[in-house]
Amino acid sequence: MSRRISLTQYLVEQQRDHGRISPQLRLLLEVVARACKSIAISVNKGALGGVLGTAETENVQGEVQKKLDIIANEVLIEANEWGGALAAMASEEMDAIHVVPNRYPQGEYLLLFDPLDGSSNIDVNVSIGTIFSVLKKPGEQAGVSTEDFLQAGREQVAAGYCVYGPQTTLVITVGAGVAMFTLDREQGSWVLTEDQVRIPEDTKEFSINMSNVRHWDAPVKRYIDECLAGKEGPRGKDFNMRWIASMVADVHRILSRGGIFMYPWDKREPHKAGKLRLMYEANPMGFIVEQAGGAATNGRQRILDIAPEQLHQRVAVVLGSKNEVERVTAYHLDAA
Ligand code: AHG
Ligand code: MN
Ligand code: MN
Ligand code: MN
Repeated sequence: MSRRISLTQYLVEQQRDHGRISPQLRLLLEVVARACKSIAISVNKGALGGVLGTAETENVQGEVQKKLDIIANEVLIEANEWGGALAAMASEEMDAIHVVPNRYPQGEYLLLFDPLDGSSNIDVNVSIGTIFSVLKKPGEQAGVSTEDFLQAGREQVAAGYCVYGPQTTLVITVGAGVAMFTLDREQGSWVLTEDQVRIPEDTKEFSINMSNVRHWDAPVKRYIDECLAGKEGPRGKDFNMRWIASMVADVHRILSRGGIFMYPWDKREPHKAGKLRLMYEANPMGFIVEQAGGAATNGRQRILDIAPEQLHQRVAVVLGSKNEVERVTAYHLDAA
């Protein structure tokens, strides 16, 4: 058996041998990974840990919060605020940014997260996850504001997610490809189990919530109808469908074996936005998918080029196998 490479070794080599990350960013990623380990322990306890069910609160998105949404958010904040790498954090579960308190040193990075993705799956024991994105605080001035977070996704210096499924898997990019680490529970360590992950350019598998078909825009309907027509249709092949309703798990499948994931804009939304959040979901996943050779658009434009206007902004998402994403995007542009 070849020697095991830990997350620590991977990150030290990214810093020391390749100069791709700073010591501060390395520390930050280690701490995020440690927080994910702690969230995994809570998730695994389930009913025994009293972590299932809803809290009495709503988040800024108007969603009823689950107990685990709040627990995961607190774990991430507590783990990250003292280390000195961060200036502030933003989360799906917090109305405003969380500035690192004065008693701790202020760092130069900004951390954004969806602490618990796939909330509707918590209580039914289906894979859920954590998604995160790291930006650098722009400018030299002291202090930090919400505007500092409003950077396009291409400015991300790192992004990742952790999926709490049959295995606990951490997926990271620092802009040098995508690496996957599996949690070794006995050792308590993250072990590199795949490096330079590649998403096949073609696929026969799509992922979309089909219950929304009546609300879709014409280009989305056209694409899915053609997939459903199978071998006899214009695509000349049969397609399979998967929808887990946890973006992390759906994206993880796509990184593992290809596919296309869509949460498109639909007619219930007047403002041409989708359901998923640009800063906590679309940008980090877009960065990861591109780093694995896939593509990510909002149907018209590359996700990573969108200039954010608001922290909690929503966006339509089409991501995964490159040729399929390009096809869906072309259908949208044709219809425009
Ligand atoms: P979250 O649990 O963080 O609010 O995100 C849920 C998202 C995403 O994970 C998933 O792809 C999608 O919502 C599922 O939506 P539907 O229930 O409409 O299928
Ligand atoms: Mn939510
Ligand atoms: Mn989510
Ligand atoms: Mn969430």
